[in-house]
Amino acid sequence: MNSAIQHLLGIEDLSAATIRAFLDAGSKFKKDLNEKKNLDTLRGKTVVSLFYEASTRTRGSFEMAAKRLGADFSHMTADASSSVSKGETLVDTAKNLEAMAPDFLILRHPSSGAPQILARHLKIPVINAGDGFHEHPTQALLDALTIEEKFGSLKGLNVTIVGDIAHSRVARSNIHLLGKMGAKVTVCGPPTLIPPHMEMLGVKVSYNLKEAVRGADVVMMLRIQFERQNDKQIPSTGEYFRCFGLHAESVKDLKKDAIIMHPGPMNRGVEISADVADGERSVILNQVTNGVAVRAGVLAMLEEGRE
Ligand code: CP
Repeated sequence: MNSAIQHLLGIEDLSAATIRAFLDAGSKFKKDLNEKKNLDTLRGKTVVSLFYEASTRTRGSFEMAAKRLGADFSHMTADASSSVSKGETLVDTAKNLEAMAPDFLILRHPSSGAPQILARHLKIPVINAGDGFHEHPTQALLDALTIEEKFGSLKGLNVTIVGDIAHSRVARSNIHLLGKMGAKVTVCGPPTLIPPHMEMLGVKVSYNLKEAVRGADVVMMLRIQFERQNDKQIPSTGEYFRCFGLHAESVKDLKKDAIIMHPGPMNRGVEISADVADGERSVILNQVTNGVAVRAGVLAMLEEGRE
């Protein structure tokens, strides 16, 4: 394992070797936790999570990962029940939590760059659980582990990411990770949901779903993040589903062994039909399962870095 890692703030600044180490750690913990329900890796440690946005998968799987490694886990939601509602800043909130002597802080925040700010102010490891439309590193790691389990390696695979690329931290982290690990990425969606100059990130851009998914080994569908949009960027969800949704008709030309992914939460009937989401190509729940193992690996690697 790589012991030099202090925080996990994003994928962009990680080397391929460090990504490999995180994936190997996730794979190891998947095996270990399958064999033994609970481990002692983080016995005596405390993990605190601070979420300024809603979450089911990320929050739940960090909590399960920490507890299954023997750590105590404490969750803070920045809502009316916390002193954030009285005007306390992010840095003050985090420094006060740090004063209670946890060993890790996991942050989800609507502002891009918030975890980087905390990493400058805190002495304990900071883990980014999603910041604005910047990065969601543990999602990209669990996605990569899921793809590797199916295909053995990421190298040379064609991965098509479809949907609201402009507002997606999942897309950005996956683009960085997949490129570094040798996969070829195409992004697809309506022009209003694809930022200009995406090619500079080493991806192909397509505005035609049928073309973009033909030849793909992996099709990763994204939710439209209406909560991050100032203006209406699609005419209607019905029209979007017809043109960019994955449904019986749009999966007809997929490669025989292509898989379908979605980070969740899904909006059935908007970006994906129920029969495709629940169909035999779907690995969507495998992604969720791998979230626990990958987050266990991240916590363990950061603990090694502290030691
Ligand atoms: N994929 C993901 O981040 O899901 P949650 O928002 O439920 O954590």
